[in-house]
Amino acid sequence: MILITGASSGIGKGAAEHLAKIGYRRLSIVARREAKLEEVASTCRQHGAKDVLVLPIDLSAWNDAREAVQQTINYFKRTSIIRILLYMQFNPTFFYTKGLDILICSAGVIPKAIRCPTSDLSYEAFDQTMALNFSCPVAMTIEAIPSLRKTKGNILYISGNGGKPKPLYSITPQNAWNFHPTQATNPCPT
Ligand SMILES: NC(=O)c1ccc[n+]([C@@H]2O[C@H](COP(=O)([O-])OP(=O)(O)OC[C@H]3O[C@@H](n4cnc5c(N)ncnc54)[C@H](OP(=O)(O)O)[C@@H]3O)[C@@H](O)[C@H]2O)c1
Repeated sequence: MILITGASSGIGKGAAEHLAKIGYRRLSIVARREAKLEEVASTCRQHGAKDVLVLPIDLSAWNDAREAVQQTINYFKRTSIIRILLYMQFNPTFFYTKGLDILICSAGVIPKAIRCPTSDLSYEAFDQTMALNFSCPVAMTIEAIPSLRKTKGNILYISGNGGKPKPLYSITPQNAWNFHPTQATNPCPT
């Protein structure tokens, strides 16, 4: 089962549709625009996806980002149990998901403020960009780790290096790249 953020357009949308095409059956797609997500879900189903969960959520809030992971895991746990009850006796090779297999974080903003000189950056622009481009992948990773451990799953952060110097945008992917999820699996020192 795969969770993809930023799936209503661009790279996230392309990833969801491609993964459905190459055989992934259970997808959870997240972004704010529900109608766009429904269109992507419909295309994924045409490509063969059996179960596509659409989650219209603003991921710039830490708790909502964690909630998106939790909702995905709970939803597929429930549908797995129903499938087991329905099919187990007819299909002995039936496989049900242990949890999240891949977390793909593609939701991101390139704010208009990126072209302004550093001295003109506003706190609001900085805060909004950090919230989605950096805090959101961190929050989702923390929430997803217990499930990813069970499946020996993977995390994929989609970001850029900022291209030409863009003071606000450039630091957010750099932060995401420097966040090593394995550190989060170690116990906190007391
Ligand atoms: N395309 C490129 O050439 C390129 C190059 C380098 C790096 N990148 C990076 O790759 C990532 C994806 O780029 P893209 O080209 O696919 O961008 P995009 O087409 O603009 O897609 C961004 C996605 O993020 C979602 N999103 C934005 N704000 C959100 C929020 N507050 N909560 C939840 N979802 C939100 C958008 O959906 P909603 O509006 O429906 O919420 C959309 O699905 C970005 O981080 C971008 O910086 C892209």
